[in-house]
Amino acid sequence: MSPDAYTAEVVQQAMAQGAITEAYQADPEQVIQELNWLRATEVTSYLQYKQHACMAVSLFAPGLKDDFEAHATLELQHADVLAQRIQQLGGGPIYSPVEIAAQAATVGVRPEQGPTLREMIIENLMLERQQVAAYTTFVRELGERDPTTRRLLLEILADTERHASELADYLKSTTDVRP
Ligand SMILES: [Fe+2]
Ligand SMILES: [Fe+2]
Repeated sequence: MSPDAYTAEVVQQAMAQGAITEAYQADPEQVIQELNWLRATEVTSYLQYKQHACMAVSLFAPGLKDDFEAHATLELQHADVLAQRIQQLGGGPIYSPVEIAAQAATVGVRPEQGPTLREMIIENLMLERQQVAAYTTFVRELGERDPTTRRLLLEILADTERHASELADYLKSTTDVRP
C-alpha cells in the first residue's frame, strides 16, 4: 500500500507507538518499570564485579580476577539489552546513580565488598540468586503478553543462572580462599 493511503492520524499513531501494536497485550508502562528495576540490579552487579576484580589479587586463585572481569562485562551487556528494550517500549532507562541505587536497594541488591575472596564470591552468588529470583518471577508474571521481552529476559536469566551455578561450584571446590 502506498504511504498516501494512510490517513495522517494513522501515521501519527504509528509514529507515536513504534513497535507497540494493538496485538501487544502487556502494560508498557508496567513493563518499562520492571525492566528499569531489573536493569538497576545489573548496573549494581557490574559495579560489584568491577570492584572485586580490582581487589582480587590472591596468588591462591589467579583466575578469579579474570572471572570477575568477564562477569562484569556480561552484566553491562545485560543492562544494555534491557535499556534498548525500555526505549523500544517508549520509555527511557534510568541513568541517575542515586535512583539506580534506590531501585536496586528496594529488592535488597546493593554493592558489597567483603575483605576476603571467599566473602566476595559469596556476595556475588547472593546477588546472582536475587536476580535469578527476580527474573523468574517477572517472566512468569509476563507470560506470553510480550514475547520479545520474555525472550530477552529468558536469555539473561540463563546467563544469570550459569553465573550463580559457577560461583556455587567454586565455593564447593575451595575450602580456603584468601584475598
Ligand atoms: Fe546480569
Ligand atoms: Fe551475572
